[in-house]
Amino acid sequence: MRDVPLADTTLRVHDVGGGEPLLLLHGFPLDHRMWSGQEALAGRHRLLAPDQRGFGRSGGSAPSSVEQLADDAAAALTALAPGARAVVCGLSLGGYVAQHVAIRHPDLVAALVLVDTKLEADTPDARAARHDLAARVQRAGTRVLAEAMLPRLFAASAVARGTPQRGAAEALVRAMILGTPVATVTAALAALATRPDMTGAFAAGTVPTLLVCGAEDVITPPERMAADAAVIPGARLAVVPRCGHMTPLEDPAAFNTLLAEFVDGLPRRERRA
Ligand code: MLT
Repeated sequence: MRDVPLADTTLRVHDVGGGEPLLLLHGFPLDHRMWSGQEALAGRHRLLAPDQRGFGRSGGSAPSSVEQLADDAAAALTALAPGARAVVCGLSLGGYVAQHVAIRHPDLVAALVLVDTKLEADTPDARAARHDLAARVQRAGTRVLAEAMLPRLFAASAVARGTPQRGAAEALVRAMILGTPVATVTAALAALATRPDMTGAFAAGTVPTLLVCGAEDVITPPERMAADAAVIPGARLAVVPRCGHMTPLEDPAAFNTLLAEFVDGLPRRERRA
């Protein structure tokens, strides 16, 4: 892990491999370990996977907005890979953050990979549900969060439940959820609830974009992601069978192949001045 000091906290960043950087942004309420299935890509990329502020081993101050998390990610990239443009890949919350990295720091971004995520803001009902969940976690701790989230994160079909990696993936996700500080959970839920709508943000189509969705994702289902892909010129949606909301962890081999093919098809990256 590398330390990246920011003005008000320090980010811990998992940094392995070599070559052009691939910035991996985790979902809520997880940390860089959700990308453990992507270590196989370290032979062709430098993998930079921060624990976003408040999460994992970064600890410290809790997040206040997805824009702040995007600025953190940009600062980490600039500190660890000066002059480079990264493929920025984010899952769910990490996907919201990746979108803001692309909009706020376009010179740092070679391409976007949006995984099990969406462009839309929360509906009023979704905001109310987050507020209610935050109050329950405040009262009873992160066990409540694990109970609320785990049944919806993984593919439910019998064939998906029977894959060899499934038990370890669920145990890892449970450990990450239970280990996230309550202050981070409540702050992140507020940041998620107030994030802006990004539906029109990519209409110019200037960032090559791949969208990836688990065929059994019930949080950001394939129909939702297909609608998002349709408003990003040139974007492609890949739907991965037997996966839910945790595609990179549920089927690392399929996910890594998609990502590698996408990166191979990108124009040669020019370094920034
Ligand atoms: C995530 O996996 O990061 C969350 O599902 C994001 C969300 O609740 O919108």
